[in-house]
Amino acid sequence: MNHFEYKNPTKIIFGQNKIAELAKEIPAKEKVLILYGGGSIKSNGIYDQVKIALAEFDVMEFGGIPPNPEYSVLMNALEFIQSNEITFLLAVGGGSVIDGTKFLSAAALYDGKSPWNILTSRKPVLKAMPFASVLTLPATGSEMNSGAVVTRKETKEKLAMSGPALFPQFSILDPQVIKSIPERQIANGLADAFTHVLEQYLTYPTDALLQDRFAESILQTLIEVSPKIMKDPSDYKAASNFMWSCTMALNGLISQGVPSDWAVHAMGHELTALFGIDHARTLAVIAPSHYKYNMATKKEKLAQYAERIFNITEGNIEEKALAGIDATEAFFHTLGIKTKLSSYTKDFEGTAEVISKRFTERGWLGIGERGSLNPTDVAKIVEMTY
Ligand code: NZQ
Ligand code: ZN
Repeated sequence: MNHFEYKNPTKIIFGQNKIAELAKEIPAKEKVLILYGGGSIKSNGIYDQVKIALAEFDVMEFGGIPPNPEYSVLMNALEFIQSNEITFLLAVGGGSVIDGTKFLSAAALYDGKSPWNILTSRKPVLKAMPFASVLTLPATGSEMNSGAVVTRKETKEKLAMSGPALFPQFSILDPQVIKSIPERQIANGLADAFTHVLEQYLTYPTDALLQDRFAESILQTLIEVSPKIMKDPSDYKAASNFMWSCTMALNGLISQGVPSDWAVHAMGHELTALFGIDHARTLAVIAPSHYKYNMATKKEKLAQYAERIFNITEGNIEEKALAGIDATEAFFHTLGIKTKLSSYTKDFEGTAEVISKRFTERGWLGIGERGSLNPTDVAKIVEMTY
């Protein structure tokens, strides 16, 4: 097992009707800004619950953060924060609203020239305005991690940021919020969380027996609840297991002491930036090709995954590994998620070269758990997804 240091300061408040406890968690003196997305919280009752819980607070609000939080919208929010002397940010939404809020919490205390440099510099964020979240969509794990991803339409870029100051102070997880989520977004949440586990598990063995079992248990739970939650998002038992699995998939726990890959996300983000494809769907496009391309270095873990998750016991190590990749693709298909780039856009020709060139220009010359995938490898993987 590799060495590690682990600290996760986010308090999780999980269960039915827990939004009512908001006021206990925010200091009374704070001037709070509620941030939200396109308005789903207004039609499903979550907005009302938040407003009632914060009735005694000095509260303002900023809505309209779009999926794949857009830089120009966030810059308007930043101006709002500064001109209204806001001191505490409360994200009420899915990964996009929470990530947008993380960016704002860093940008509000940033003393550099342009806040965009927070994303391009890739330096860890060490100071940020306090913030918290009410999660409305299980998927990203953003509610309990210190990462965020911001999109800039103008340049068709989607870049990540992270740092110890970007953990939410607390997050409220009420699985009842899931009942209003459209099927497409439930499917996205399942596929995103599933791939988060794969990124931290399908690497090479480091004798981390417990971390492997943690990862496998999350994958098994997601597979078990997926037909139930897809069929009936108001099934509380399925919803609570779905929600907690998504959080556990990316709150840092399963990555301790093991290598992480994240190449699927690096390539996937480019497909969202170029074509606007939903984040989770880009992962389902890239993952099968990525694992096939990297068979030589990943086959031990792929075969273990095939055996333990899909009960594939026939064949040699490569055959099992390949059957595991096919089973992964079949799982995405059960969610109604297509796994070829050509199913999402007619303009796929040339995508491999564009992405490879971008990686070269950014100096991303070696990605994956060994830092061994260069831009030429990236081009080959992306080409396999056509
Ligand atoms: O905008 P509103 O009206 O809120 O509607 C949203 C949005 O249209 C809707 N929705 C959310 N909760 C709902 C609901 N509709 C009905 N009922 C509810 N309870 O769902 C749509 C999608 O929301 P979004 O927040 O975009 O989805 P998700 O949580 O999948 O977040 C995706 C973003 O997170 C980033 C992705 O790149 C993408 O930008 N990621 C963040 C990560 C992190 N911070 O750790 C890791 C991930 O790998 C990912 O990259
Ligand atoms: Zn993801």
